[in-house]
Amino acid sequence: MNTKTKLLNKYFNSCIFNASGVKDITLKELEILAGSNSGAIVMKTCTIEPREGNHNPRCVSTPLGLIQSMGWPNLGYKKYIEFAKKIKEKTTKPIIASVGGFSIEDYKTIVEAFQKSDVDFIEISLSCPNLEGHSQIGYDFDETEKLLSQLINLGKKPIGLKLPAYLDSALQEKMVEIIKKYKISFITCINSLGNSLIIDSKSEKPLIKPKKGRGGLSGDYIKPIALGNVQGFYNLLKNKVFIFGVGGIKTGEDVFEFLLAGANAVQIGTTFEKEGPSCFQRIEKELVEILQKKNYKNVQEVIGKLKFL
Ligand code: SIN
Repeated sequence: MNTKTKLLNKYFNSCIFNASGVKDITLKELEILAGSNSGAIVMKTCTIEPREGNHNPRCVSTPLGLIQSMGWPNLGYKKYIEFAKKIKEKTTKPIIASVGGFSIEDYKTIVEAFQKSDVDFIEISLSCPNLEGHSQIGYDFDETEKLLSQLINLGKKPIGLKLPAYLDSALQEKMVEIIKKYKISFITCINSLGNSLIIDSKSEKPLIKPKKGRGGLSGDYIKPIALGNVQGFYNLLKNKVFIFGVGGIKTGEDVFEFLLAGANAVQIGTTFEKEGPSCFQRIEKELVEILQKKNYKNVQEVIGKLKFL
């Protein structure tokens, strides 16, 4: 039994892989992912120029997850084109580029370059909550349309969207109209929950420095929100758009729940940060045990099969 899956014409040896933003900035980190049981290699969101990111402390773990305000630290998109070429020489795993930008022109330049590169999929980040003065595009449907209308015809590689959490179905419906109009191939939901604040009552200070302590929340805190978003999109998209579920996945049982809700594959962020690359093998093994115990033959049999009360 394995947890293989396929998106368009690409095979993923496992439906469990890393989420963009965790241990995926340098070539060394990407090579570690290539050598691990991660089913794909998702690279850090990149921008036109290299960025140091926000001031430290900017990422702090808690027993229930973590809060971060990284601010897109990355080496600039040209490096990730180089890295993808090097990694492709050593692995057949799908490589997913993650694209960020501060203008439509930025996104266009980067997507155009990745369309001619060795990456297999291009994920457009519409949801970074940590950029002072730049709101999450995914909450502005007009801006999202303006952006996608410029990106979608730049090449043949499948385009996906990294989405923020939507806390109302009407917002998901609006996003689905856009997803259908621009023939988006996959969505990744959800990004960390922006504008969250964790306070240390002893010191009377927030845990992180940027944005007066407000940043993206992930881990256990957000799993029910992520599951709800996956299910909402699954119901609206009816299996026509691939869904990568992400948010608080620690165990094979969590993956099983995301599959039931409608995810085709899942990404691991906080647990990968805390446990390192061995988490992929452990979580996959736990998932396989559950599938076997429940007599499922593969992950496809589970996707979207949540039973209702
Ligand atoms: C960051 O670099 O600030 C996190 C990335 C993201 O939330 O998209």
